[in-house]
Amino acid sequence: MIVLGIESTAHTFGVGIVDEEGNILADERVVLRPKEGGILPREAAKLFSEEGGKAIKRALERAGIGMEDLDGVAFAIGPGLGPSLRTGAVAARYLSLRFGKTLVGVNHGVAHIEIGKLLTDTRDPLVVYLSGANTQIIAFEKGRYRIFGETLDMGLGNFIDSFARALGIPFPGGPKVEELARKGKNLIDLPYTVKGSDLAFSGLLTAAIKALERHPPEDVAFSVQEIAFAMVTEVTERALAHTEKEEVLLVGGVAANKRLQEMMRTMAEERGAETFVVPFKYAADNGVMIAWTGLLALKSGMRTSPLEPVNPRFRVDQAELPWLTGKGFKPSNLS
Ligand code: ATP
Ligand code: FE2
Repeated sequence: MIVLGIESTAHTFGVGIVDEEGNILADERVVLRPKEGGILPREAAKLFSEEGGKAIKRALERAGIGMEDLDGVAFAIGPGLGPSLRTGAVAARYLSLRFGKTLVGVNHGVAHIEIGKLLTDTRDPLVVYLSGANTQIIAFEKGRYRIFGETLDMGLGNFIDSFARALGIPFPGGPKVEELARKGKNLIDLPYTVKGSDLAFSGLLTAAIKALERHPPEDVAFSVQEIAFAMVTEVTERALAHTEKEEVLLVGGVAANKRLQEMMRTMAEERGAETFVVPFKYAADNGVMIAWTGLLALKSGMRTSPLEPVNPRFRVDQAELPWLTGKGFKPSNLS
């Protein structure tokens, strides 16, 4: 089976093509890079509709196949920004109807998890999903990916990006903040907010921006990372104790952070669990993760009607996972 997947939940229009052994046949990406501030949904949708068709053509060329060789078309049906989501959905519905291909809509968060599992060869990990908009601790239990802790306000990546903006660092600020933090030595007292198994970053953000008036930026960056990552690690540890998983899988763009990886490794090791990190290239939004998750879904008999609307608020714990719960297809990395 060969599946083409379209990602378009936020700032990236991604087209991926995979086969059922998990081989990546194509990976094309069109990324909106805003000059300042956050992304404007309408700008993203405009870029996607101008460039999306060409990206699909390039992906087929790269894979060396035609539409007739595809067994299905997958797209990210949510969560995300409405205008971005709709451009990807329209492209996928068109391909499905025009070329008679089965269509499946997949959850964007589930796709981050499934591509992470495929590429790290993990089977049943506790997933720490740290992207721009999302911060969630997730594990498979009782037929669903359950959320064991999450942010109550902003995502960890957006938090770091907002802090970076106060320093004049353009989006995405994560890598530059990490670099700066390496030069910091003094831990500044900033708010640490863990509420039960959930987290909040807005108090820390306000205090960190204020601290820039009195402290060197490298010390503030260092403290921001130490405190924010300790919060995430604490919540992850609690979920690990509860679920007794033996693997910890870091996914999403912030997973690239070396200091975060180190803190997670130390914590997980003490609990006898091994830590895995999604390869950097596939930490960010991409079409390959949608294609792979779509393939798992299609193989298990899942279908989506072209009439089904996108769901900007589709939570990861609402997604059905027939490839994990059913008796049907098991991909080679899970069988
Ligand atoms: P989603 O739609 O799933 O929320 P996203 O596009 O917002 O995804 P990703 O592409 O997964 O997020 O990740 C982007 C985020 O990762 C940005 O906020 C960026 O600053 C952050 N990031 C990237 N590299 C690093 C790093 N080395 N340290 C910390 N943060 C990082
Ligand atoms: Fe994402």
